[in-house]
Amino acid sequence: MSPPTAPALAQPATTAFPVETLRRQFPAVIGAEPFAFFDNAAGAQLPQNVLNAVNRHLLDHNVQRGGRYAKSLEVDRMLAEARLKVAAFLNAYDPDEVCFGMNATSFMRMVGQALGQTLRPARSEIVVTDLDHDANIATWQALQAMGARIVWWRMREDGRLHVEDLLPLLSERTRLVACTVVSHALGSLVDVAAVGRAAHAVGAEVFLDSVHYGPHAPIDVQAWGCDYLVCSGYKIFGPHMGFLWGRFDKLAALPVVRSEFIPDVAPHKLETGTFIFENVAGMSAVVDYLAELGGTLSGGATSTLRDRIVQGLDGIRSYEQVLSERMLVALNEAGATIYGVGDPRLAHQRVPTFCFNLAHMHPAEVVEKAAAVGLGIRDGHMYAPRLMERLGLSMDRGAVRASPVHYNTLAEVERFAEFLRSVA
Ligand SMILES: Cc1ncc(COP(=O)(O)O)c(C=O)c1O
Repeated sequence: MSPPTAPALAQPATTAFPVETLRRQFPAVIGAEPFAFFDNAAGAQLPQNVLNAVNRHLLDHNVQRGGRYAKSLEVDRMLAEARLKVAAFLNAYDPDEVCFGMNATSFMRMVGQALGQTLRPARSEIVVTDLDHDANIATWQALQAMGARIVWWRMREDGRLHVEDLLPLLSERTRLVACTVVSHALGSLVDVAAVGRAAHAVGAEVFLDSVHYGPHAPIDVQAWGCDYLVCSGYKIFGPHMGFLWGRFDKLAALPVVRSEFIPDVAPHKLETGTFIFENVAGMSAVVDYLAELGGTLSGGATSTLRDRIVQGLDGIRSYEQVLSERMLVALNEAGATIYGVGDPRLAHQRVPTFCFNLAHMHPAEVVEKAAAVGLGIRDGHMYAPRLMERLGLSMDRGAVRASPVHYNTLAEVERFAEFLRSVA
C-alpha cells in the first residue's frame, strides 16, 4: 500500500459518493439523527442487510452445524459461503485460510502462544511498535517468558511508522514483525507491503493487525505479503466476531491446543469450540454490502466479487479522504493539538481517525460538551499505553478521538467544526 501522491484539497468527486443513500441503509444512524456517530473506531453501525442476515439465521437456522437435516446443512452452507466471501474481502489464496472466532484479540493470543512454542534461540526477536493497540503488543511481550526478545520499532514525531526505521532492526534473528496496518488512535497508515518485503528478506514473518483498517480501504493479504492478519467484524459494519487469516502452511505449522477429533488443519484447528454462527452470517452480509456499493460505483462494470469489494472500498477511501481534509481544516482552525498527520494536504497518509487535545480543556470535558450537542466522540488512552507515553499524555487523561466513517456526511463534519469553534 504505497500512499498515492498528495492530492489537492476538497475533491469534487465526493458528490459521486452516494452517502445519503448509504446512510439510509443504517437504521441506527438514521434513527439516532441528529446524533452523529463519530466514535466508529470503537465500533461501527450495521446496515439493514446485515441485521437481516443475523435475524434470518436465528429465526430459520439456529441449530448446530454438521447434522444431516436441512437446517443444519444450511448452517454448513452458510459458513462455507461466508468463508468464500471473507476470503474475497481479504484477497486470501484459499478460503480455508480464513478462521472465524470471537474477536481479534483472542486470535492474536492464540497465534502468539502457538508461535511462542516455535521460538528458537537463534531466531527469537519479535518486532513490535509503539503505535499499535496494546493487544498487538502485550500478545508478543508475553512470549518473553518463552525466550522472545522484544525489539521496538518506534514511530517518528510525525505520528507515523517509517519502514526505513524498521530495516536496521531486522536480521536473521528476527522471528516476526507485528504491526498495525493503520493506527486506530492517530489514523496514520503504515506501508505494510514494504514491511512484508523487508521482513521476508531476512526470513521473518509478518503479523498484521487490520482491525482498524478494515472499514476504510481494501485489505490485500497477497499484495501485502503478510503471513497472518486479524480483523474484527464489529469495526467493519458487522456484528461482534473476529477472523484470522494466515497462509495455509503457516497455520498448519502452529501448535495450537486442539481436541483429538479436530483436524490439524486450518480453519478447524483455530476455531475454538462453537463460534457465533449468526454473527458469521452477518459478516458475510457485510461483504455483500461492500460489493453492492462497488457494483453501484462502477456502474455494474466490475465482474468478480473481489473486484466489486475493492471498488466499494476504494470509493469509501476516496470519500473518507475528503472527510479527513475537512476534519483537519476544522481542527487546525480551532487550534487543536493534532497527534499524527495534521496537514490537510497530507490526508492521503491517514484515515479519518483523529486524536487531539484542546488547550486548557480536559479531554473528558470536551467529550461531554460534544455529547451535549449530539456528537458521539471518545476520550481516553485508546488502549495504547505506549503511544500515550510517546505523546506525553497520561493514561488517565489521554486525548479526544473523533472517528467518522463513510456513512458520516460533510454536514456532520461541519457540525463538528462548529462545535470546536464554540469550545476552543
Ligand atoms: C487496532 C485494534 N486492534 C485490536 C483491537 C481489539 O479488537 P477486538 O475487540 O476484536 O479484540 C482493536 C479494538 O479496538 C483495535 O482498534
